[in-house]
Parts: sequence; C-alpha cells; structure tokens
Amino acid sequence: MNGKIYLVGFGPGAEEHMSFKAKAAISESDVVIGYSTYIKLVKDLLDGKEVIRKGMTEEIDRCIEAYEQAKLGKTVSLISSGDIGVYGMAGPTYEVLLQAGWTPNDAIKVEIVPGSTALSACASLVGAPLTHDFCSISLSDLLTPWTVIARRIEAAGSADFVVALYNPKSGRRTQQIVEAQKILLRYRRPDTPVAIVKSAYRRRQDIQLVRLDEMAGCDIGMLTTVLIGNSSTFIQEGLMITPRGYANKYNSLTGETKDGEQAGVSLSMGLEGWYACLRQYVQENEGLTLEKIADYFGVVVGEVLSAIAAGESAGEHRAARIQSDKLKDVINACQSWGRLRGIVRAEAGAVSELFLHAQDFQQRGDWLNIETDAFHCHINWSKVDSAYLACREDKSYAVNFIDNKGHLVFRLLLMKDEGSFSADKLAAYWQTWQVLAEERVNE
Ligand SMILES: C[S@@+](CC[C@H](N)C(=O)[O-])C[C@H]1O[C@@H](n2cnc3c(N)ncnc32)[C@H](O)[C@@H]1O
Repeated sequence: MNGKIYLVGFGPGAEEHMSFKAKAAISESDVVIGYSTYIKLVKDLLDGKEVIRKGMTEEIDRCIEAYEQAKLGKTVSLISSGDIGVYGMAGPTYEVLLQAGWTPNDAIKVEIVPGSTALSACASLVGAPLTHDFCSISLSDLLTPWTVIARRIEAAGSADFVVALYNPKSGRRTQQIVEAQKILLRYRRPDTPVAIVKSAYRRRQDIQLVRLDEMAGCDIGMLTTVLIGNSSTFIQEGLMITPRGYANKYNSLTGETKDGEQAGVSLSMGLEGWYACLRQYVQENEGLTLEKIADYFGVVVGEVLSAIAAGESAGEHRAARIQSDKLKDVINACQSWGRLRGIVRAEAGAVSELFLHAQDFQQRGDWLNIETDAFHCHINWSKVDSAYLACREDKSYAVNFIDNKGHLVFRLLLMKDEGSFSADKLAAYWQTWQVLAEERVNE
C-alpha cells in the first residue's frame, strides 16, 4: 500500500475560508499532523482521525513524522495556517524527503494544497492595500541573519513596494519592528498608511489603521501581519487603498485618456516610451545636471545617459556611448584634452574634484591610479562597464565612466581657459567623439 502526504494550507483560520480541496484532503487522511494551535482550528474536521500535535519548535519533527506515517501506507495531512508554501512547512518537508532519498517518482506521493495566505486575508479586512506591487518580508531572525532581513526591507523601501511583514514581533523579538520602521522611514513619509491586523478571521481578530511613524509603538504580536503602504497608498472612509495606476492614464476612472496616453497600450512612461519622456523633460527644463535628472526620474546616471544618447535631441544635453571594445582607448584619447577636472562621487554624497592630466594615469592591475603631491586617486577599472561622452553646449564636455549597475564611477571634464573652452581642446574632444562613439540606433 502506498502512502500519501498532503501539505495543506487551511487559510487564515475560519472554516468558511478553507478551500474545498483542503477539507477534502483532511477528510481523506488517516493522520493529521500539525502545530497544536492549527489542530485546534480544524478540530471539527478530525473525527476518527489519528491526530499528532507538535510544538512550535518541532517543525522538522512534523515533517519526519509525516514521512514515517506515509511509509506505513497511510494518507497524511500535514497542516499549516494560510498557505503551506508561504513561510510554511512545504519547504522543510521537501528538504527532509529529498535528504532521505525520496524523489517525485517514489511510491509515496506528495501533493500541496494551497490556501489563502495571511497577507491576502489581512488585506481583505482593511480595503485593497495590495492592488499594486508588493512583497512580503518575515522579521523572524530565528533562521535568517538580521543583515539579510534589513537589506530586504531597505530594498523594498527604496523600490516603493507595499510591504507585508510576517512574524513582526513576539515576546522575545521586540526590536525588529522598531528597526524595520527606522529603515522604511528613510524612504516613506511618516504618515504612510499601515494596517496592523491581528488574528484575521479568528476569534480575537483586531485591526488598527495607523501611520508608519506610529507603527512600532502599536499592539503587535505573534499572530499579526503588518501591511505598509507605498508612496501612493491612502486611507479614505476607513479603507486602505493602493491605486492600480488608472490615474496615470485617465482623467477619471471612467473618463477620457490623458494627453499622450492611449487605452490598451503601455503608458507614455512605459518601457518603450520613457526615454523619450526623459528627453522631453530635459528639453523643457534647462540647466539640469545629469544627477538632478536621475533624481527626478528615480534612476541611475547611466540610465539618463543611455536615454539622452538614444535620441536626436535632449535640449542642451548630448550623449553617445563609447563602443564597448574601445573602453580603454578613452583614457588615451583624453591625453589630448589638456588639463582636466576629474569628479569622483562617494555613494554617501561626498564629491571630490581633482585637477589632473590623463597622461598621469597609470594602470596597475585592475586599478587606474593617479598619484601626485596633492592627492592619490585610485579608480577600480574593473568596475567600469561602459562609458559615455556627454556634453552641454558651451557648458561642459565630459566622459562618464559607469559601472554595471549604471552608477557613475568617475567623470573627466574639459577645463576652460580664461573663461571659455579653447578651439584645440574642443577639436580634440570632438575627434574622440568621432572615433570612439557608437552609432546611435534610433528608437
Ligand atoms: C510562520 S508564518 C506562517 C504564514 C502562513 N503560512 C500563511 O501563509 O499565512 C506566521 C505568521 O503569519 C502571519 N499570520 C498567520 N495567520 C494570521 C492571521 N490569521 N492573522 C494575521 N496574521 C497571520 C503572522 O505574521 C504570523 O507571525
């Protein structure tokens, strides 16, 4: 006789939110294994079944027990609240089985029964906070290093995801939510809406709608999920709503499309159109530096250069990418540009300006070095992935070295002589452009 393991997610708690399939799997099972609280939640479905209750820390025991019971030819339901594949027992069970030599072709079959996870259950109680891109992060550092968790919160914050926090706080883990709040406040307004939902669809259900800067001081426990809005989430009539983005395209939800937009096709700021939007913005706003444009669009300088280089015109700005096999030749070409201004930006914001001559560069291994009495400058050339010539008529003539994430590694600029750029230097600059710039592929 062949055993079977059902990995069953039974939803948030109330029986009416359990799927037919979850009920059928439990009903078909000889044995039901689960954390004691979960067993209580499905107690009405357990008549005549062998029930194995395990404690909170006995997760791996639950998986081993399920396998052992299935090896005896029994049908087993290993149950978990929400979705068993979301911070649940599906992963550890497969790990235990695979380690024991089980494969999907084994006589023991495994089937996962999905359920409604806490974030969707909680969202349904407060409005529609997840109608745009969201992510979930567990604040439990029992098995995950805090540095990994913090990096994920930081990334979610900077990318403007709606964030669902699982395992936000327990009796022992009280500071993780404080740290999460601190990180997110670097990116979100203090009044960003937050829903704190405790025991969704269970007896002690409780809902608080608060601001991000109030979040950590609120009543939060082991059975709470915290939903943090993005920059456009709002609360109205007690409902937390994250807009789908219709307002980007339509004058009202049912109305006419906005100028420049069309129903059924990508936004003008979609993948194919946003370079043109950027160039138009640059045309309409004189005097912007590449950094200011990057800040406005929330992109890196490399993207701004790529967008400017892709079009005929971007106001006073022009740019061209250096051919990828000619990257090293740029430094040689710069030797004919005379004295230069070098700009090196530290990530945290410090900007160094160095006066130098490209002839003084020395390549040593991966490093491009300049050592003078006044300064030592070491540039990690292995970080340089692309370069763009970029100029603003009569204002600046530069070459920008960019890393593979689009960040500026360093920039070299022509210097003026007595208030203007000399004809010789400009000729050398345009000569470099002619020889090393890639042909523009028109959009
Ligand atoms: C180990 S995770 C299990 C998640 C579960 N597998 C799911 O998909 O919902 C436990 C966390 O889920 C969240 N959670 C589970 N059930 C919940 C409920 N009924 N109401 C609010 N949050 C819940 C809480 O954040 C809790 O700390």
